[in-house]
Amino acid sequence: MKVRSKGSWGLFRTKLRLPIVLLSCSVFFLAGFFGSTLLSQFQDIDGDVPKSRILESVVEEKEDKVFEAIPNGDSGDSFVSSIPFQVLSWKPRAVYFPGFASAEQCEHIIKKAKANLRPSSLALRKGETAENTKGIRTSSGTFISASEDPSGTLGLIEEKIAKATMIPRSHGEAFNVLRYEIGQRYLSHHDAFNPTEYGPQKSQRVASFLLYLSDVEEGGETMFPFENGLNMNIGYDYEECIGLKVKPHRGDGLLFYSLYPNGTIDQMSLHGSCPVIVGQKWVATKWIRDQETND
Ligand SMILES: *[C@@H]1O[C@H](CO)[C@@H](O)[C@H](O)[C@H]1NC(C)=O
Repeated sequence: MKVRSKGSWGLFRTKLRLPIVLLSCSVFFLAGFFGSTLLSQFQDIDGDVPKSRILESVVEEKEDKVFEAIPNGDSGDSFVSSIPFQVLSWKPRAVYFPGFASAEQCEHIIKKAKANLRPSSLALRKGETAENTKGIRTSSGTFISASEDPSGTLGLIEEKIAKATMIPRSHGEAFNVLRYEIGQRYLSHHDAFNPTEYGPQKSQRVASFLLYLSDVEEGGETMFPFENGLNMNIGYDYEECIGLKVKPHRGDGLLFYSLYPNGTIDQMSLHGSCPVIVGQKWVATKWIRDQETND
């Protein structure tokens, strides 16, 4: 076998060398030729579109690759995983995770939550009462912790959120599963608690992960009115649905950080839930804290 293969290699080298060399020359020439005309076309056109097209093709190539795991630590993974994401904004830091959970997982969570829905409540500032804050948050909801879900679905999602944020599971509050019906909304607010409004905090909310459990036909977007510093000086009324809007889509996740890396509250993380116009919105929220929780 070895000899034969050597023989055929010899034949290949002598008889086929010239055509192969010619062929590869022309392939490289054509690639260079078309590559450069394509590039010069891109340079001719003004604007961002061609640039992003080049970037996209680079990203696509990378995603086709299978990466091999390297030796892991005791608490790490022995495999390489990928969680597709899109950076929606740096101001605030907001990331979108398409297809974070399956349709079945979403259905399961809705079914579990339905049994215990109550009108959602608010963390009250000094001087606020349940009565004078009526209308700020009109959804219904319930808290469910992963330990209350024997199917393990909530546990799996919690684990994936921990991976996506690299903040341990132990820092999460229980899932707050919410239902918004037509007209229901949540006026713009911060998830972090400003000590000057809420008093000293033992533990602060660092980030929020929203898992959309349903599609919404119309309305129900998560909005960030101050995205990129916009609308901060217009006397914003906290009601208007403006700024960066994220349309709920079943199974997709939205993560945003309420604090800067230095721990101060990012005012641009102000967000709200636009009123549902057609359909129903179900969302599971996980608030992630700087201290461990007992949830
Ligand atoms: C914290 O970080 C933000 C954003 O980088 C910056 O604007 C702010 O001045 C910092 N605050 C403190 C107290 O360092």
